[in-house]
Amino acid sequence: MNGRGQVRFEDIIKMHGEFAALKGVTFDIEPGEFFALLGPSGSGKSTTLRILAGLDAPTSGRVYIDGRDITATDARDRDIAMVFQSYALYPHMTVYQNIAFPLEMANLSKAEIGPAVKDAARKVAIDHLLDRKPGQLSGGQQQRCALARAIVRKACLFLLDEPLSNLDAKLRLETRTELKRLQRSLGVTAVYVTHDQEEAMTLADRMAIFMAGEIQQIGRPADVFAKPNSLDVAAFIGSPPMNLIPARYKDGGVEIAGHRLETALRNGGERDVVVGIRPGAVRIGAKGIPAIVELIEDLGDTAILDLNCAGTLIRARVSDGDVPREGAALSILARPNDIHLFDKTTRRRL
Ligand SMILES: Nc1ncnc2c1ncn2[C@@H]1O[C@H](COP(=O)(O)OP(=O)(O)O)[C@@H](O)[C@H]1O
Ligand SMILES: [Mg+2]
Repeated sequence: MNGRGQVRFEDIIKMHGEFAALKGVTFDIEPGEFFALLGPSGSGKSTTLRILAGLDAPTSGRVYIDGRDITATDARDRDIAMVFQSYALYPHMTVYQNIAFPLEMANLSKAEIGPAVKDAARKVAIDHLLDRKPGQLSGGQQQRCALARAIVRKACLFLLDEPLSNLDAKLRLETRTELKRLQRSLGVTAVYVTHDQEEAMTLADRMAIFMAGEIQQIGRPADVFAKPNSLDVAAFIGSPPMNLIPARYKDGGVEIAGHRLETALRNGGERDVVVGIRPGAVRIGAKGIPAIVELIEDLGDTAILDLNCAGTLIRARVSDGDVPREGAALSILARPNDIHLFDKTTRRRL
């Protein structure tokens, strides 16, 4: 491996005319980290990846790899391998020729290329397919062919832009696991773009949440889930999404559907807030907010209840033993530590 795969993105702005696709993006990635860029469509994830790859130039800001300022360095002189959404395999070449291509470009001898191609193909389990053309491969195999081409270059930094999006659900799960294992065994840094929060949560060591050209939060998936720092991150992370209920905060509590809930926030000034409660944190009991079960969505081992609380919809996740009947009247509560509070105006976590 040539470098170490450390990345620094420093205050990157990308303008398309008047439109700011990136509004000052800063992050650091450690060598060997699996780092996800997660956010809704159009939030600037691919733009970030393309600037890192050298396919696009930033309007301002600096990009460093292994401490070296590469902002003005040509894409092919960066120690980076790209496995993009379309795998960009050459359709008229065999798998072998596709994997060998970067080595031929680097003028390696046939004696060096052969073993390197076979070794890389073995790592992603396509060494029996070397004579096929890409059109004769499944989506997952094409994916792995693109990965083998990245491996053969001995790049220390892998960039992946929604690499699993055109695989069917089952293959997507399998390939996801393989990808993580491969990244670990190669010890490379991976920068992984996805709009799928579950994919980011399961794969990433850390993730950056993109919204409208800005990073809202960077952290380990579990930490972002436990403490989303804004209303927008709270609404984006978690499935089904967090219940978000407008309310008035006063003296350490909030009132929802005429019932007071104690929060963990002490001495916050009286104000309008949005209360966040994850469906899994809603507790059904004898006391609390009166609720009517309007709809039950059975997921097998758990069920999602749509609860009508005096006109406010609250969704609860319950295990299969605790599923009430539709139309039942019950009461719900949440523990103070399970109640997230966001300022209504600034949308920041309180
Ligand atoms: N060449 C371009 N000209 C104008 N707008 C662009 C161009 N490329 C991207 N954009 C815009 O920049 C925003 C971010 O795009 P992108 O990084 O591709 O988003 P994501 O990958 O998060 O879906 C989008 O609103 C997109 O329409
Ligand atoms: Mg994109």
